[in-house]
Amino acid sequence: MSEPIRFYFRGAVHEVRDAAPTQTVLQHLREDLHCTGTKEGCAEGDCGACTVVVGALGADGQLEMKAVNSCIQLTPTLDGKALFTVEDLQQPDGALHPVQQALVECHGSQCGFCTPGFAMSLWGMYLKQEGRRPERKEIDDCLSGNLCRCTGYRPIIDAAGRMTELPRVEFDAAHVTSQLAGLKRDALAIYSAQGQTFMAPRTLGELAQLRAEHPRATLLAGSTDVGLWITKQMRDLEGIIYLGHVDALKFVREADGLLDIGAGVSLEDAYNALCEHYPQELGELRQRFASLPIRQAGTLGGNVANGSPIGDSMPWLIALSAQVVLHSVRGERVLALEDLYLDYMKKDLAADEFVLSVRVPLPRPNVAFRTYKLAKRFDQDISAVCAAFAFTLDRGVVTGARIAFGGMAGTPKRAARAESLLAGRRWDEAALADAMRALAEDYAPLSDMRASSEYRMKTAQNLLRRFWLETRSDAPLAADAVNAFACRA
Ligand code: FAD
Ligand code: FES
Ligand code: FES
Repeated sequence: MSEPIRFYFRGAVHEVRDAAPTQTVLQHLREDLHCTGTKEGCAEGDCGACTVVVGALGADGQLEMKAVNSCIQLTPTLDGKALFTVEDLQQPDGALHPVQQALVECHGSQCGFCTPGFAMSLWGMYLKQEGRRPERKEIDDCLSGNLCRCTGYRPIIDAAGRMTELPRVEFDAAHVTSQLAGLKRDALAIYSAQGQTFMAPRTLGELAQLRAEHPRATLLAGSTDVGLWITKQMRDLEGIIYLGHVDALKFVREADGLLDIGAGVSLEDAYNALCEHYPQELGELRQRFASLPIRQAGTLGGNVANGSPIGDSMPWLIALSAQVVLHSVRGERVLALEDLYLDYMKKDLAADEFVLSVRVPLPRPNVAFRTYKLAKRFDQDISAVCAAFAFTLDRGVVTGARIAFGGMAGTPKRAARAESLLAGRRWDEAALADAMRALAEDYAPLSDMRASSEYRMKTAQNLLRRFWLETRSDAPLAADAVNAFACRA
């Protein structure tokens, strides 16, 4: 029996009964509702022209408002949520919202195509700022997923400051929260239309049962990979099982020296939790991982389950000896993460299994850990090479070396030869040179649009050198890292 999709939109509950389950939110807005303020630029999450804000109740019942890319979010994922677009910013008396007024005053719009997306990203930040003027790095992070061909960005950055100086317009969060409480479903919801089915379990048990019954259905989490299968690869999906309403996948727990992160935790929340333990080591990667809207939609579980050879989480997770917990109706299985990846996009994941969580070891004494991302742009770009190193050092001697790279093979992969060559060696320039040479035995990278094979090998070797420069016993950064560890301990 098909349930309608119900979401809060323009002050009322909106129902959808006949949109295909793979229809994007952007298509629904523009083609069905004729709300054309939200634009389509790339249809792949890259440009931000389609940015909207989605409100949802968290597992704790609190309203969370997040800017996301409507071009890769599917309409049925809105069930039980609230959708806000640029048209919602206009005030009841027709006045512009401070976000819009600031963009006008600072000349933050020229051709205007990107402007609705910028306005919605800025509104997402405006809601969180509560009147505080954002710092430059917060503005950069907020706008990391919005591209503009015309303005050169400076006027838009100015507008991000100016909007907080204008008389504040409050958002009625209590009203939206109560509306969403009324839309909340407690049991499995199934939506079918146009010959496709979208299944939205609420509990782990329902999810496991559905996975077992529909092994060919696509698991959908944040849709930041799957959305592109639909918009770019025009793939037909044989049913969708949506994980976004399974609260049991949304946890971050610390126990036994591990941070256990549920597969449904957003990349933004996961990396923020991780950065509390690894601020220096993961801070830059967090910032450079996609953009804020992608990190707010995408999940760590999706990154690991997709297991792209150029994904950013796998190298450092493998270097740190992270584990992945798999769940099915048959029970639970815990694997070293590196063992999940068998071959290019081929995983040790049975048809009835899904990722329940990722267990990340917390900082340990004497373990020097770094990860480095190389991409053509600082923000919002996929890695050409992503390196991670975790060395256990005892008075300058390597007692354990774990090296993992993305972008160097068909899977995220450890450098077995370089690692074994370093074991027991003093961490000096001679050992470094041998390990750099050994990387050429460990990997035979491809040439593609992101980088040539030669570039990948040379930069991989040089990233190992950089790690050595930062961690050799006389390195100033090594002393910093030791101090940082001592402060946390
Ligand atoms: P989805 O798209 O929902 O799913 C991805 C895959 O994982 C699917 O095969 C799905 O079936 C499966 N899956 C999801 N959850 C589970 C689960 N619990 N168990 C089993 N299978 C599951 N990635 C990077 O690493 N670095 C980047 O810088 C980066 N930049 C990006 C920029 C843009 C513009 C876009 C569109 C994507 C980018 N990505 C990047 C890729 C993507 O954001 C990540 O891979 C993300 O973590 C995927 O998570 P998701 O929740 O959106 O997964
Ligand atoms: Fe470009 Fe959605 S249209 S991010
Ligand atoms: Fe033209 Fe931004 S104003 S693309």
